[in-house]
Amino acid sequence: MSSVSAYDAAADRMRQPPPSRDSGTDLRELIRLGSLAASSHNTQPWKFATNDETIRILPDFTRRCPVVDPDDAHLYKSLGCAAENIVHAAAAQGLRADVEYDRDEDAVVIELTADPDCRTTELADAIPRRQCTKARFDARPLDDAQLATLAQAGTGNGVRTLIFTDPDAKRAITDHVNQGNLAQLSDPHWRTELFAWIRPNDRAAVASGDGLAGRTSGQPSVPNFLARLILPVVVKPKAQIKTDTVNIESSAGVAIFVSDGDHPTVWVETGRCYERFALRATAMGVRNAFINQPIEVAALRPAFERWLELDEGEHAQLMVRFGTGPQMPFSLRRPLDDVTV
Ligand SMILES: Cc1cc2nc3c(=O)[nH]c(=O)nc-3n(C[C@H](O)[C@H](O)[C@H](O)COP(=O)(O)O)c2cc1C
Repeated sequence: MSSVSAYDAAADRMRQPPPSRDSGTDLRELIRLGSLAASSHNTQPWKFATNDETIRILPDFTRRCPVVDPDDAHLYKSLGCAAENIVHAAAAQGLRADVEYDRDEDAVVIELTADPDCRTTELADAIPRRQCTKARFDARPLDDAQLATLAQAGTGNGVRTLIFTDPDAKRAITDHVNQGNLAQLSDPHWRTELFAWIRPNDRAAVASGDGLAGRTSGQPSVPNFLARLILPVVVKPKAQIKTDTVNIESSAGVAIFVSDGDHPTVWVETGRCYERFALRATAMGVRNAFINQPIEVAALRPAFERWLELDEGEHAQLMVRFGTGPQMPFSLRRPLDDVTV
C-alpha cells in the first residue's frame, strides 16, 4: 500500500462512527472516541485506564511540550478534551458519564452509570468529524442564534466563552496574535520543539500516529531529510503573520475560553468546554482553528487579558477562530494499545 493510501486507511480506521446503544457497553470504543479529541501539537498526552464502571485519563508527561506549555496547562486541557468526547460517546451507549479531576490521583476520573435517558446525540455523531481546520474560511457571518448556541456550548463550571465578530475587535485580536507569532517564531527553543512534532510526509505521520501532519494544513509532502533543511527557512514570523492575518479576517468570529483561576481543575474544565464547542460547531457545519499565541507567550498574556477586560482572577485559556470553510484531511492517532494501561 502506498503511504498516501496507508494514511487514508489509518484515518478511516480510527474515525468510524460511535457504536449504537444496541451494541452494549464497549469501553475500548469509548477510548477510541476519546482519543479522537484535540490535543496540543497532536501530542495525545494521555493514557486511559479502565475497570467495569470507570475510565481514568492519566497525564502522559513523556509527551509534554516544555517550551510552549511550561506549566502543562495545555496538557491538562487536552485531557479535558478527551473526557468530553467520552461523555458524548458514552451517552450513545446508554451511559451517563460523571467527570471529575482528582487532584490526589492526578487523573481525570469518569464514572459510568447505565441511564435509560442517555442516547446518541448530534455531538456524539460529530466526534469522528471534528477537526481543527487550519485553512482559510469563507468570511460568511453566523447569525445571532448560531453564535449564542456556540457560546452556550463553550460554557462550563467556572469557564465562560467570549465571542467577537466585530471587524475592529478581530483586527485588535490579530495584532495580539501577531505579537505572539513574532515572539514564538523568533525563539530557537520554540522552533525546535515545534519542528520535532511536524510530520512532513504521510509515511512519517503513519509511523508515529501523532504530531502535525503536513497535509492537515495543506502543506506538500516532503521527505524527512529535505524537511530538516526547508522548515527552518520557510517557517518564519513574517509568513505566519501574513497567514494568520488573512485567516482571522476570513473567519466569522473569534471565541476565547476564559476560566476563573488557573490550575489543573479549570484547565481540564476548559478543555471540556472547548471540545463541546467544537463538537457543537461541527454538528452545525462550522469549523474552528486555534490562535493561542497571546495566551501562550507569558510576557504577552497580561496585556491581552487587560484588553479582554477580564474580572479579577480570570484568565484567558484558549482562543479559536471559527467560520465556514473547506474540510481538511483528518489528523491521525496512535494505536489504542499504545494509549491504554
Ligand atoms: C490545548 C490545545 C492547544 C492547542 N494549541 C494550538 C495552537 O496554538 N495552534 C494550532 O494551530 N493548533 C493548536 N491546537 C490544535 C492541535 O494542533 C490539534 O488538536 C491536533 O493537531 C489534532 O488535530 P485535530 O484536532 O484536527 O484532530 C491545540 C489543541 C489543544 C487541545
